[in-house]
Amino acid sequence: MTTTNRTVQLVLPTGPTINVKIAGSGYPVLFVHGFPLDATIWNETMDAIASAGYQCIAPDLRGFGGSSLIQTKLTIGDLAEDLDQVRQAIIGDVPFVLVGLSLGGYVALEYWARHAKHLRGLVLTNTKPSTDTSEARQGRLDMGRKALSDGTWNAVSPMLSKLISDASREQSPNEQSTNEQNEQSPTLSDRLQQMMSAVPPTTIDFIQQAMANRQSFVERLSKIQLPTLVIAGEADKISPPDENREWSARLPHSELHIIPGAAHLPMVEQPKAFAQKLHDFLERAFA
Ligand code: MLT
Repeated sequence: MTTTNRTVQLVLPTGPTINVKIAGSGYPVLFVHGFPLDATIWNETMDAIASAGYQCIAPDLRGFGGSSLIQTKLTIGDLAEDLDQVRQAIIGDVPFVLVGLSLGGYVALEYWARHAKHLRGLVLTNTKPSTDTSEARQGRLDMGRKALSDGTWNAVSPMLSKLISDASREQSPNEQSTNEQNEQSPTLSDRLQQMMSAVPPTTIDFIQQAMANRQSFVERLSKIQLPTLVIAGEADKISPPDENREWSARLPHSELHIIPGAAHLPMVEQPKAFAQKLHDFLERAFA
């Protein structure tokens, strides 16, 4: 099925301009990317889910991709409020499924805490409800400072080896969907390096501070009365599968899927398997 894709720019009353990719029509599904990425991380997933008859909406968070950064101290709550503005402008009052990857998962949990009445379901992929250790927190603040002094790529490049598995590293971006090898096409590593390098240093700094100061949802998981899909990558060292098993068991209505052959970004490492799990969940959530 061919789906219509468009991009809109929303100027929010709070100041930033948010770039939003929209594909397909049908029940709405809102996708929130991780750090330091942008909405294009959902390209494969949006193609598959829009073709299956859903409206896919993927904003670039403030300061990422085509969205502007208002240079004040940021919280994860601010990002959740940005999402609600996107919801008002594009979805209206139709209940939607919110899909959050890692940082996007932190934002999704904040969104649930503030605006649960708009949600039909939650998908938490490669994320966690807990806060950082003091060492991890310090690492975030150091990365923000390094981005400001040495540039984004110098600060974020050590993350690349944790984002995708060894096998995924040399994979051509379309390999999974076309099954064709093309030596000329950029690898998944190339694609991610380009996406990560494009994030302005100020965004790296502000968002790392926001993540370092995020609140824990561990004690509130039992209150999430929504169908919730938890997805983990078998080889994810940032949000390891064992941790996902532990916290997802606290959710009253959850299912957990561990995607083989993927680390932190199963939506691009194993796009077919990821889209299939998401599609199965959406069919049940909107039944
Ligand atoms: C992400 O993928 O969004 C990051 O790994 C989140 C984090 O640094 O906690």
